[in-house]
Amino acid sequence: MKRKTKRRIIRFTILLLGLLIIAFLIIFLIKLIFGNNTSQKYYSEEAIKVIKENNLTQVYKDDYSKTLDEILKNNLYQDAYLEEYLKIDYLDETDFLTKINQYLEIGYKAEEVNNIFKLSNINQDKLLNLDKQSDFTKYLEIKNFNIENLARYEEYQAKNQDKSIDKVVTYVNLNLDKEFYTDPIRIENPDEITTLINKYHYVDKDFVPKNLVTLFDSKNGAKMVKVAADAYQKFIEAATKDGLTLESTTAYRSYSFQNTLYTNYVAEDGREKADTYSARPGTSEHQLGLAVDLNDPNVIGQRLDDKDFEWVKNNCYKYGFILRYLEEFVPITGYMEEPWHIRYLGVDLATKVHDSGLTYDEYYDLYIAEY
Ligand code: DAL
Ligand code: ZN
Repeated sequence: MKRKTKRRIIRFTILLLGLLIIAFLIIFLIKLIFGNNTSQKYYSEEAIKVIKENNLTQVYKDDYSKTLDEILKNNLYQDAYLEEYLKIDYLDETDFLTKINQYLEIGYKAEEVNNIFKLSNINQDKLLNLDKQSDFTKYLEIKNFNIENLARYEEYQAKNQDKSIDKVVTYVNLNLDKEFYTDPIRIENPDEITTLINKYHYVDKDFVPKNLVTLFDSKNGAKMVKVAADAYQKFIEAATKDGLTLESTTAYRSYSFQNTLYTNYVAEDGREKADTYSARPGTSEHQLGLAVDLNDPNVIGQRLDDKDFEWVKNNCYKYGFILRYLEEFVPITGYMEEPWHIRYLGVDLATKVHDSGLTYDEYYDLYIAEY
């Protein structure tokens, strides 16, 4: 290469580098002079007006924050929370701004507030009425997390380390961290097909379901809620087609009838034993008019044989029923296995419960109760 060309390339490179350095210097100087104030230009006019009117110059010391902008605009600014506003991610949700101030007042920091907004609306509202809660980040992904039960989850988990966090939440929500029958909850709408009744949920003495009708095969006037009675007929017809000889024994039982039954069992077997196979009055699915006990008259010494049980297990959901009391469910239901006791839920829900492999109690807490 000629010397002249070489020199030209060097001169050109130096020029280029020089220009680059100058450009960087200019940008640096602009930033230095206007840098602290660049954020100002992003704040909305309404916010700037509030800043000026109240002489809130301290607001400009940090980068722009949409949350702070909105807080200012809506005249909700509180000096003490400036640092927190800047770190709270803005969400376009109802009451977002007023809730922020409320959570900050309770004592939550920005990061915690950001997590609060990842909770369900129900939990967000509950938090407004509770003292500052301990860290709940590990529950954020759990669908049926109920902030009110936080301390109980922690306590139950400590005693049941083998249980997954999901199970802990569900079990505590079902009150299984308390003895059966502790703190009973009155069922508000027992006529709903989805009603969950168990050792913690009861119906009033005088509750009688609407639309009770006599079962098509009943010899003793056994009744169920109409929709369940109709489904029961289809279920039996299918069983008969498949060569089974199933029939109903008892279905709807009034409070007083259940009371007589339970009292007799207690007299015979003692309360502890009776509780494993008979519901205390007010806590039986039979009082809802949604349960029926099956019997096979051709089986001697028991209500159903294995073949019957197998068929019921594999088919009842197709007609809208579930087996409520299975061996693997005992720790949750508190009742021994009852192959004969089926509960109506409608085909759709019964199929989902069947497919989930869960007790209805767990299914209800996970997918029907709202948290
Ligand atoms: N045998 C069932 C649990 C009831 O009494 O409802
Ligand atoms: Zn039963």
